[in-house]
Amino acid sequence: MSDAPWWRRAVIYQVYVRSFADSDGDGIGDLPGVRSRLGYIADLGGDAIWLNPFYPSPQADGGYDVADYRGVDPMFGSLADFDALTDDAHRLGLRVIVDLVPNHTSSEHPWFRAALAAPPGSAERARYIFRDGLGPGGDLPPNDWQSVFGGPAWTRVTVDGRWYLHLFAPEQPDLDWTNDEVGDEFESILRFWLDRGVDGFRIDVAHGLAKDPALPDIAGGHPTSGPAPAGHPHWDRDDVHEVYRRWRRVADSYGRDVAFVGEAWVDSPVQLARYLRPDELHTAFNFDFLLAPWDAARLRSVIDASIEALAGEGAPPTWVLSNHDVVRHVTRYGGGDIGLRRARAAALLMLALPGSAYVYQGEELGLPQVTDLPDEALQDPTFLRTGGADRGRDGCRVPLPWSGDAPPFGFGPPDLGVGGAVPGVGGADPWLPQPAGWAGLTAERQASDPRSMLSLYRQALRLRKALPGDSPLAWMAASSGPGGDAVLAFRRGPGFACVVNLGDEPVDPPADVGPDARVLLASGPLGDDGRIPGSTAVWYGGEG
Ligand code: GLC
Repeated sequence: MSDAPWWRRAVIYQVYVRSFADSDGDGIGDLPGVRSRLGYIADLGGDAIWLNPFYPSPQADGGYDVADYRGVDPMFGSLADFDALTDDAHRLGLRVIVDLVPNHTSSEHPWFRAALAAPPGSAERARYIFRDGLGPGGDLPPNDWQSVFGGPAWTRVTVDGRWYLHLFAPEQPDLDWTNDEVGDEFESILRFWLDRGVDGFRIDVAHGLAKDPALPDIAGGHPTSGPAPAGHPHWDRDDVHEVYRRWRRVADSYGRDVAFVGEAWVDSPVQLARYLRPDELHTAFNFDFLLAPWDAARLRSVIDASIEALAGEGAPPTWVLSNHDVVRHVTRYGGGDIGLRRARAAALLMLALPGSAYVYQGEELGLPQVTDLPDEALQDPTFLRTGGADRGRDGCRVPLPWSGDAPPFGFGPPDLGVGGAVPGVGGADPWLPQPAGWAGLTAERQASDPRSMLSLYRQALRLRKALPGDSPLAWMAASSGPGGDAVLAFRRGPGFACVVNLGDEPVDPPADVGPDARVLLASGPLGDDGRIPGSTAVWYGGEG
């Protein structure tokens, strides 16, 4: 076994707390709910969990509007619940990663309240980015920046007519990272959670934080969201790196294996690698992989570019197919039967690659995006700020189906069905409605079906543990003949090969796989002739 740090090859299970498991029947997932289901994640084969924000928050953006960085929202439990969860996770061999949101606070954070109560030019205002407006009376925003969620990135305060910057919702004012007080506060927050025993931090909007001090107009020259091109006035600026150097010194001072994972939507793997210099973050999400279409050539070039750019810094690549911000990949890959087949194959591809991988809760059940949530159920600020033009991200955040034949599918406590089986308590509906058709997708149903998505993930994660974590990927030539250019085939050391047929037609395994190779796992049934059907991945072992 390799003695490399855990984060170089971990499978990290992303827990969207609000939608994972509800312990008290209020329709909202919570930390005791997560705790009660940790065994499921351990059985699945996860090495770590990443918890989306559970801090006190008005929930204007699913908890990414933090009002208190050192607490737990009563809706999700208490600090004691967090400690109990962390202890149990550690006992089960699961590391715990928490989400850190440094680009902005909630408008309900005491700092922002104090800023509104204080005069322009005060120390309280200087923690945020307040500016005078343009035009007569200062009625126009200070520049043309747009919020990622739609509409202007500036909101005017009524007290004195000045404007403040928010790259996301108005309830998420951006902090001014040139202010030393901000840096000191975040060091203290890091220490707070490290002292409680966390193993890492997922850093929200890691490519934000630093802004061009001149706040120049973008003038249509740069997109507001998506990968940040060079020279952008508020994304991926050089100054952010100094923040991560400081954080790395803090993490290293704890003398244990703490890991950072950055959420940085940048232009290229080369830009991403700059966040992973040896004195900065340990890892970062690889959104190029997530964004790549179901196409062998495109995926191969993303895989190569990612591995190569990160190796230059000695950082491991990471792989992710879904998260709480994007359309679930079953749906992205075409939905229905074809989407499922491709998602199964994609899982085997992702889990065979060197480095670490992320599994977003529910992908192991093959959950699709819920595209028909009623308007009145939608809560994502994107939906509200675009006047409904963008339906937002709620469709990938629907509470998990655990068991039973009807909603809430065991999402709530066993004795609290919808409508409330316990007098005086009542079981509220899950905060987003679950499709009735999910009866066939519950964890309970899938656990006993060897052909289910859940069984595939379980087997893959178990086999993956035996893979040589550090051994590099070596591409193999696909078999010649029709369909060969839709095949990705690679070896990890002499005893393991992965072949993915992304096309529609069956193909022969590459000649390199050899006649003695054993099929360890396949994402779908193989022909008797050993050919690999379309949209199918196979892991081979044991060949010479
Ligand atoms: C990140 C989060 C997303 C949130 C945004 C603003 O992209 O993943 O959910 O809306 O940051 O904090």
